Amino acid sequence: MKLKLFLLIVVLTACNQSSSIHTNDENQASSHIDRRVDSVLSLMTLSEKIGQMNQYNGFWDVTGPVPAEGDAAKKYDHLKKGLVGSMLNIKGVEEVRRVQKIAVEETRLGIPLIIGFDCIHGYKTISPIPLAEAASWDMEAIRKSAEVAAAETAASGINWTFAPMVDVSRDARWGRVMEGAGEDPYLGSKIAVARVKGFQGEDLSATNTIAACAKHFAGYGFSESGKDYNTVDVGTSTLYNTIFPPFIAAKEAGVATFMNAFNELNGVPATGNKFLQRDVLKGDWDYNGFVVSDWGSIAEMIPHGYAENGRDAALKAIHAGSDMDMESYLYVAELESLVENKKVDVALIDDAVRRILKLKFELGLFDDPYKYCDLEREKSVVNSKENHDIVLDVARKSIVLLKNEGQLLPLKKEGQKIALIGALAADKNSPLGSWRLAAEDNSAISVLEGMQRYPANELMYAKGADVTIGETAFISEVTINTNDKSGFQEALNIAKKADKVVMVLGENGFQTGEGRSLANLDLPGVQQELLEAVFKVNPNIVLVLNNGRPLTINWAAEHIPAIVEAWHLGSESGHAIAQVLYGDYNPSGKLPMSFPKSVGQIPLYYNHKNTGRPSIPEPGLVFWSHYGDESNDPLYAFGHGLSYTHFDYSNLQIENNYPSKKSITVKVDLHNSGNYDGKEVVQLYLHDLFASVTRPVKELKGLEMVSLAKGESKTVEFVLTDKELGFFDNEGAWVIEEGKFEVFVGGSSQTTNMAAFEIK
Ligand code: BGC
Repeated sequence: MKLKLFLLIVVLTACNQSSSIHTNDENQASSHIDRRVDSVLSLMTLSEKIGQMNQYNGFWDVTGPVPAEGDAAKKYDHLKKGLVGSMLNIKGVEEVRRVQKIAVEETRLGIPLIIGFDCIHGYKTISPIPLAEAASWDMEAIRKSAEVAAAETAASGINWTFAPMVDVSRDARWGRVMEGAGEDPYLGSKIAVARVKGFQGEDLSATNTIAACAKHFAGYGFSESGKDYNTVDVGTSTLYNTIFPPFIAAKEAGVATFMNAFNELNGVPATGNKFLQRDVLKGDWDYNGFVVSDWGSIAEMIPHGYAENGRDAALKAIHAGSDMDMESYLYVAELESLVENKKVDVALIDDAVRRILKLKFELGLFDDPYKYCDLEREKSVVNSKENHDIVLDVARKSIVLLKNEGQLLPLKKEGQKIALIGALAADKNSPLGSWRLAAEDNSAISVLEGMQRYPANELMYAKGADVTIGETAFISEVTINTNDKSGFQEALNIAKKADKVVMVLGENGFQTGEGRSLANLDLPGVQQELLEAVFKVNPNIVLVLNNGRPLTINWAAEHIPAIVEAWHLGSESGHAIAQVLYGDYNPSGKLPMSFPKSVGQIPLYYNHKNTGRPSIPEPGLVFWSHYGDESNDPLYAFGHGLSYTHFDYSNLQIENNYPSKKSITVKVDLHNSGNYDGKEVVQLYLHDLFASVTRPVKELKGLEMVSLAKGESKTVEFVLTDKELGFFDNEGAWVIEEGKFEVFVGGSSQTTNMAAFEIK
């Protein structure tokens, strides 16, 4: 008790030297925090320091009795002894207050806990899954969505989210593509910044912001064959130019923490990877936040075949730069004796603990450990009308119009008989997507409910067929309905009577996410059969896709006149979809990931290399880079997305100010020649024709969201500087090389609107 009082005095004295840590002079603020950190560190025993590096999952029903035996009892005991620095999956003000109280009042030094949670796409008010939000290409909307998530999470006692996931991935088989921003490092970097800023705001100590975590460092999105947790083997160029950029962007945006990864990278597990964590992240990038392991990933270095046993795993992880052990129980078990036996230098422990304590100060937890635990605030912030309005806005913006032939869309608002078909159309759970651990089940607005808001049409609904059988849950395998077609006839009956048919098909919300890899990307179960059967009786179909990854929908792309990619859009899903179908929102989304024609094309990505044999030399010859049974093209390309209006591009011009001003200005005229006001994401791609390390055929290097009224025109301008013109060479250095470039500007990665320039 005496010591605790002393600690408080040290901390408060340090605090009083300046009224706030958020002065204009950031250096002064950080050195002030550093002093406070040092004063706490000087009071700690070795085991208390190691305790700060230990993170436990919520271990007992904290509102119930204290655990007497097993793992829960051990964790409880550790918590009381000051051997736990952070906990995850404790949520709600009351629960958090209870564990915080033990840390603050029952341990020797009373150091508060950081409370972590996977708030990946919302807390209670659920946003579109991150891949969907990426399709909005709208950084402000994405930032606001993260801001809502942060405000609700912070109001529920939590102060740290394990997001954003910034793993670039080119493989739709990997279930976690739903959690990222797709296949492109440039778009992914912009989105990483928007999300970090949304979560963290300007002031980490505010009660509506939380610490963010850039994950999974690094290479997790490149798991072989799209199988989760699988081996990753990538070369320097891909690592630096494709995988690292969103992490660099997150770091530059001030992300408070990093998480390492389950995968091995080129033979060394990311968790034990010194090159990644010490040389690159904490060395080259001078990162001063802390690195948390992924769940159990320190212990998983044993089955990886990298560590002999738990002791060896702890040794390797701390040397490599993993600061906090999530659920491996190994730091707390092994580090103390590793230090005593001179296997680990205590300086490594001090460095890790400093980083962790620094965040606790920045969050304001030393000043008030219960600052995130205000019941009144929880009630007023969580699930507020304002929050729902914000996620509705980003949900509408996330929808991508893939195809609209015969102007089937937008639907007329009256005098129409509409048949709505598909189990997902009435589903209130699936739109919540995979990472919605705090959401109420069945709390999303379904498409059926959304369309009922337009009562001047006659709306008939039939399920047709279930997508899954039985309960679905975050942790368990889903069972797909592969034979029950008993609902087909009812669906056909309403389709026959209808002017237009809206079919909502795709994936259950739990078909993507962690551990949800697939080898087949067709519409699951009997849904393809249902689609074809309905098409026979009424071909005026609008297909609305609900899914968490690109799917192979070749038959639909060929036969169905209108296709809307609506992903898993969160709490306001049905409202957003109905507003787009009825033209109250003109779709503006663009694909953040290529849609393959066949799983065999994967990895499929627009920014591929040219190869030495890119095109067919003469018809019939085989010696070029291609498939004998499939085209090289995607079904729908990266950046593709239509509008109810039409945009024309013309007059692409280049002003070459290199080397004088080290910039290239690119201008293009955009004209809205259709019948609706609308928004277009103007995309700029670069092709560096030859370089010391070969460059992709196209790389996104600029994007601009432009709103135009019908008939209106605008000149859009981009300025390319060394930041856009260079690349990382195979030593990891950023280089700008002389040579010839092509620049493409248009509405998708397939644009052929091109001009050329040279850097001399
Ligand atoms: C995931 C992480 C997540 C962690 C904590 C792991 O299984 O890979 O992304 O943050 O669990 O829930």
